[in-house]
Amino acid sequence: SSNTKMESITEALNNLFCTAISAAFPDIQDPPVVIALAGNNPKFGDYQCNSAMPIANIYKQSGKKVNPRDLAQKILDNLPSHPMVEKCEIAGPGFINIFLDRAYVVKSLSTIFEHGVQPPTVEKKRVLIDFSSPNVAKEMHVGHLRSTIIGETIARLLEFVNFDVLRINHIGDWGTQFGMLIAHLQDRFPDYLDNMPPISDLQAFYKESKKRFDEDPEFKKRAYACVVKLQSFEPDHIKAWQLICDVSRKEFQKIYDRLDITLIERGESFYQKRTEKIVKELEEAGLLEEDEGRKIMWGDQSTNIPLTIVKSDGGFTYDSSDMAAIKQRLEEEKVDWVIYVVDLGQATHFYTLFACAKKAGILDEKKHRVDFVGFGVVLGEDKKKFKTRSGESIRLVDLLDKGMEKALDKLKEKGRDKALTPEELKRAQEAVAYGCIKYADLSHNRNHEYVFSFDKMLEDKGNTAVYLLYAYTRIKSIARTANFTPEKIKELSKKESLPLDHEKEWKLGKVLLRFPDELLKTLNDLYPHHICEYVYEIANTFTEFYESCYCVEKDSSGDIVKVNYGRILLTEATAMIMEKCFHILGLNPVEKM
Ligand code: ARG
Repeated sequence: SSNTKMESITEALNNLFCTAISAAFPDIQDPPVVIALAGNNPKFGDYQCNSAMPIANIYKQSGKKVNPRDLAQKILDNLPSHPMVEKCEIAGPGFINIFLDRAYVVKSLSTIFEHGVQPPTVEKKRVLIDFSSPNVAKEMHVGHLRSTIIGETIARLLEFVNFDVLRINHIGDWGTQFGMLIAHLQDRFPDYLDNMPPISDLQAFYKESKKRFDEDPEFKKRAYACVVKLQSFEPDHIKAWQLICDVSRKEFQKIYDRLDITLIERGESFYQKRTEKIVKELEEAGLLEEDEGRKIMWGDQSTNIPLTIVKSDGGFTYDSSDMAAIKQRLEEEKVDWVIYVVDLGQATHFYTLFACAKKAGILDEKKHRVDFVGFGVVLGEDKKKFKTRSGESIRLVDLLDKGMEKALDKLKEKGRDKALTPEELKRAQEAVAYGCIKYADLSHNRNHEYVFSFDKMLEDKGNTAVYLLYAYTRIKSIARTANFTPEKIKELSKKESLPLDHEKEWKLGKVLLRFPDELLKTLNDLYPHHICEYVYEIANTFTEFYESCYCVEKDSSGDIVKVNYGRILLTEATAMIMEKCFHILGLNPVEKM
């Protein structure tokens, strides 16, 4: 496969040095193999192997005094030759500096012209990713927006490496709030079975019913009765529930369409029958404990809050449907990996869920991988929880509209409204508006809270979507200036080879070569900001290259006098790899903006 795609450098070096180190030190069990990227000084090579020092320490502990430089030499004596490595040098106390072979790098990068930018090779998995997951009748809020954006990017990454991916929207559509909603619907729209009730503002409807629920004991009683009827699937109540869900569903879909998000809806209601079943099973297995009328289940020592499996009134909970859901996912869907993208406030819930699933024999960590992908809260510019001035939570549609407005202002400020056709302007506006919202979210370490600020995310300097989208259009325009269409580039790539001799060309080439490694890293820890930092580094390294290496030379009258064809190829390779990263990040690059 090394002839059709870029190989992961760290993986290849790891294998190579692992072979050498195991052969050099057969007396040490699992000797450490430490491969790192070298610093900026070309003297120190491109990668390093830093294993000699920790191995010397292992010997020291068993009373043997050795010089790490000698150990480094022993590693090199056992190193098989590999086309990737030009030479190695021992430096300082025992570092091994690795110099990559330029012809190898040219060959590896050039695969993208014939085969496109291919994903790294990984063992295929079937993955279910649970993300977005808003609640019916309650407004979808910025927390759900974070889950939606992060989840979509992880799903795109998993799909890019050719996994089987199930994108599941675990909507809150079965809670006790439906009792009061249905009771209120029956009063407000008595003919709801024949005529579609015109509910335009479900949030207001929710508030009205909540008010009655809190103030009117008679209504409250009816609301409880409605939940019981709903959960026993009484047809008229199911119909009412369906109507309410439909209103929410349409609102959610508007957001998903605008942000280009794909999901399969499978809400809590989907698991009702399965929940009944699993509760019985847990009970029979003796895993439930009575607690003031509730039935609870404990996880393991690492978690100190139990799941509530059955409430004192006999009803099920968020916890019990999650137990049913994890079972359905691992046993019926037969996935190898389940990923939950939910705010950090629910960390305990999920770690307890995983522990309980293990205890119940549903989750087997030798076979399955489960991840809780948590994220911090979104703050307003006042560093307080993101709210409107009157203290209401911000509606996502309003937020997206505002983004569109601000993006247009930004483009006008740069005079782009005069340079672009109305269609081009519209495309640029959407790319900037939705791109900046997604990128601001993804580029922050998801474990941290982040401050939502349109002014910051629309800056055209620094690690922002605007900066990157502009960098991309500039790169794309270079080949255009020299009249290169994609077809001509492909032809050119058969004749010309990528130039990597100039210091800045080599630096750019090596950054591009890291593409598979950056994806593997993100696949492993599920932190999308790695990919953001990587594209940002590509854009910056490209700028450095472009400032010192001409691609197209023009005379004073603007006529092209010289084209460096190899560099045009390097430019195009840069654009292609950026495009793939953009795709994973959900950014829509435009050729003109
Ligand atoms: N609906 C929940 C909320 O808004 C999130 C659901 C996450 N997924 C899950 N399987 N519990 O907080």
